[in-house]
Amino acid sequence: MSGKTYPVFETWAQNAHISKQKYEDMYAQSVNNPDAFWAEQAKRLDWIKEPTIIKNTSFDPVSIKWFEDGVLNVAHNCIDRHLEKRGDQVAFYWEPDHPDQPAQVITYNQLHERVCRFANVLKELGVKKGDRVTLYLPMIPEITYAMLACARIGAVHSVVFAGFSPEALAGRINDCDSTIVITADEGRRGGKTIPLKKNVDDALPHALGVDKVLVVEHTGANITMKGGRDVWWHEAAAGVDEFCEIEPMNAEDPLFILYTSGSTGKPKGVVHTAGGYLTYISLAHETVFNYEDGDVFWCGADLGWITGHSFTLYAPLSNGAISVMYEGVPNYPDASRFWQIIDKYKVNQFYTAPTAIRALMGAGDDFVTKTSRKSLKLLGTAGEPINPEAWEWYFHVVGDGRCPIVDTWWQTETGGCMITPFPGATDMKPGAATTPFFGVKPQLVDNDGNVLDGEAEGNLCILDSWPAQARTIYGDHQRFVETYFTTYKGKYFTSDGCKRDADGDYWITGRVDDVLNVSGHRMGTAEVESALVSHDLVSEAAVVGYPHDVKGQGIYVYVTLMAGVKQSDDLAKDLRQWVRKEIGPIATPDLLQFAPDLPKTRSGKIMRRILRKIAEDDFSNLGDISTLADPSVVDTLINDRQNRS
Ligand code: WTA
Repeated sequence: MSGKTYPVFETWAQNAHISKQKYEDMYAQSVNNPDAFWAEQAKRLDWIKEPTIIKNTSFDPVSIKWFEDGVLNVAHNCIDRHLEKRGDQVAFYWEPDHPDQPAQVITYNQLHERVCRFANVLKELGVKKGDRVTLYLPMIPEITYAMLACARIGAVHSVVFAGFSPEALAGRINDCDSTIVITADEGRRGGKTIPLKKNVDDALPHALGVDKVLVVEHTGANITMKGGRDVWWHEAAAGVDEFCEIEPMNAEDPLFILYTSGSTGKPKGVVHTAGGYLTYISLAHETVFNYEDGDVFWCGADLGWITGHSFTLYAPLSNGAISVMYEGVPNYPDASRFWQIIDKYKVNQFYTAPTAIRALMGAGDDFVTKTSRKSLKLLGTAGEPINPEAWEWYFHVVGDGRCPIVDTWWQTETGGCMITPFPGATDMKPGAATTPFFGVKPQLVDNDGNVLDGEAEGNLCILDSWPAQARTIYGDHQRFVETYFTTYKGKYFTSDGCKRDADGDYWITGRVDDVLNVSGHRMGTAEVESALVSHDLVSEAAVVGYPHDVKGQGIYVYVTLMAGVKQSDDLAKDLRQWVRKEIGPIATPDLLQFAPDLPKTRSGKIMRRILRKIAEDDFSNLGDISTLADPSVVDTLINDRQNRS
């Protein structure tokens, strides 16, 4: 733990929404009297029927309900209720991949009309309340229309990141029985195009339930439209009404499904519901980022991930905010792009992932210092631990030493920020997520479940429910219970390691399960392994993470080939391509080592601990290898490590 502490800036202590005292008072009430606290917070939203039952939750047995007799509509809360005051205010500045392409400005009135049209098109295509709609779209305005249109009519969206392969897309479509997919002709990222419609065409033979594909024209690429199945969005939109009634939704009706990786098996469809989710993230957006009316807020996360769902879309809109949405990547056309966008739109709060910060730090300070960034008030990070060096660079070079940083720890399953500084209340420590959000009760336990008090390091659990918590895994509630609530019975186990320092501040140390965090993207080692063993020439595979300067973690794969197959550089290349094709570019192995054998216990369990050490070149710390069925395997792996490519 770095010893450095940056005290709250005096002006922030005075002026921010949440001062030290206010944080303490609100936090105390939120955990001592959650019913009163969240009943009050629910008033942030417009309810068709206000909730009278606030918290009805238990982690043993698992049953989570918030605001269960409340009725509302999320799209109404994000758009309609703002129209009177903010109809002509900007909702989104949309910035294209390349600065020379045309940008778009979308007001709340325009958002309303386009979302209504989208909703009417979905209805015409037969979509009804409760139906699952899969979105496979780039970061273009239409993805926000599509998500909000689903929310408007009570359909459940499942956004699949547009970098995933056809195979991965098909699996996610099938898991939630979607009959409709919304996509675009192509996506753009960093000057390259991604053939999204073609990927959908390739996926659908493996997802036979889909009978409609709604296609947004974006790049104008030549694509094939299948008669009776494929519909152009712009053609359908022209023929529908520009108004669509909202569907009243129970607070506990599902709002969306978002697939994320676990340590075993296929990705899980995490289900979030309407009322608690929106209440919580709306409060988080206002307090953690200290959003003030008229500020320009930019969360750089893609809508394919939870950070995008909560902070690119729903939370800012729920607060009537002005946001930036960006199609491209941090370093295209060059490493100044983020900072130029900040200057162009006078961004006040900027939120991104440590991996982007590290990559831009590597490009050198000039790309930053030649821009103004005077509009910036606050910086945020999420998605993975931020190393103190990157934190300091973000603070001093990007923020000129005057913008507080909020290092927000949370997860797809938590819906919103869980452990985070408040800029007017929390002293900052580079690398520490610091202090719990309202209603969040963290606890550290050892591997046997003993509670660790005071200064300690252990496994991070959360003791009680918070409104934005996921309610289930789609189609597999038992898996939800087993994954999160059985390791430490009656507690939500985060699968993250964590230290608490002498001041009571929390430092997330990273996953303690077999989930990798590669450039802020969650990836199950099991998913990469199963992609590898599905290759004809591969007999076995084991995947571990290793420290990577920019990505945080890199993907290191050990591959055992079928008997008689010769290892070669070409084959290594093919196998990496194979994983890329099976899952998507984000899963491409960084390093691959052929392994004649893998270290296993006598019962056949692969000893990943040893594989991790070898991947880290840390050969002197292998620990006890006497329990291996064949300890000589380890020597071979160490000797062969030069052969990885
Ligand atoms: C990691 C992203 C350290 C953590 C919002 C968690 C973090 C996983 C932080 C969830 C942070 C997220 N500091 N680690 N500020 N934020 N993580 O579901 O390991 O994509 O379990 O949600 O990212 O990733 P997910």
